[in-house]
Amino acid sequence: MRKNIVAGNWKMNLDYESGVSLFSEIVNMAKDEVIGAQEVVVCSPAIHLSSIAKLANGVNNVHVGAQNIHQAESGAYTGEISASQVKSVGAAYVILGHSERRAYFHETNALLAEKVDATLKHQLKPIFCIGETKEERESGSFFDVIKAQLETALFHLSASDFAQVVLAYEPVWAIGTGLTASPEQAQEVHAFIRATVAEKYGEAVADATSILYGGSCNPSNAESLFSQKDIDGGLIGGASLKSRDFLDIVKVFN
Ligand code: G3P
Repeated sequence: MRKNIVAGNWKMNLDYESGVSLFSEIVNMAKDEVIGAQEVVVCSPAIHLSSIAKLANGVNNVHVGAQNIHQAESGAYTGEISASQVKSVGAAYVILGHSERRAYFHETNALLAEKVDATLKHQLKPIFCIGETKEERESGSFFDVIKAQLETALFHLSASDFAQVVLAYEPVWAIGTGLTASPEQAQEVHAFIRATVAEKYGEAVADATSILYGGSCNPSNAESLFSQKDIDGGLIGGASLKSRDFLDIVKVFN
């Protein structure tokens, strides 16, 4: 179901104490302040998940997520974490396909399709990242790139399974650079993504899909982005590491 969602991606930041402390601030602010976003998600490193999931328990529309999972059910994969393990500590979401994992860990769309299946098998919701590089934007091939990402990693799903997926458009050239896509640029791609989903699954499924924007989103540009017709919220990196900034982005939906 289409919801307004603001998800924080802490990436590889915060030791255990700092992470639990930041999340406690976020939860207390979410309790004390009226938050309009229908869903607030914090995707932390694995070391925090069990503790912050307990802190989130019972707090309306605040959930936690992982930043990756291995596609296997279990086994000899030193250093990896499975979907069932993430589920067992109380997480509800998993970020998959982030451009940093595609770049640094060579994750292909075919591999990501397996990770999506493992995530859904354990009733977790994928926050699936798609987006083009600077070169692909400049060459004008970005629509083709994004369509291929959707087709190869997600379009094997049934309509009911796809309905569990949250999409996140993250232009790689805007991540961590302070260079945000303009609201018009972002809306153009979000509309294309929704139309591509409609072509595959029909208008009803497309209209019910939450499509988040990620890439240097912050309290000063969130409103202009989230007011766009096909932008349903944000996947927030740097600004999610500061509780006030993150809550100010969440409250854009008030
Ligand atoms: O997953 C969100 C992230 O890639 C965006 O990072 O720091 O540009 O908000 P940032």
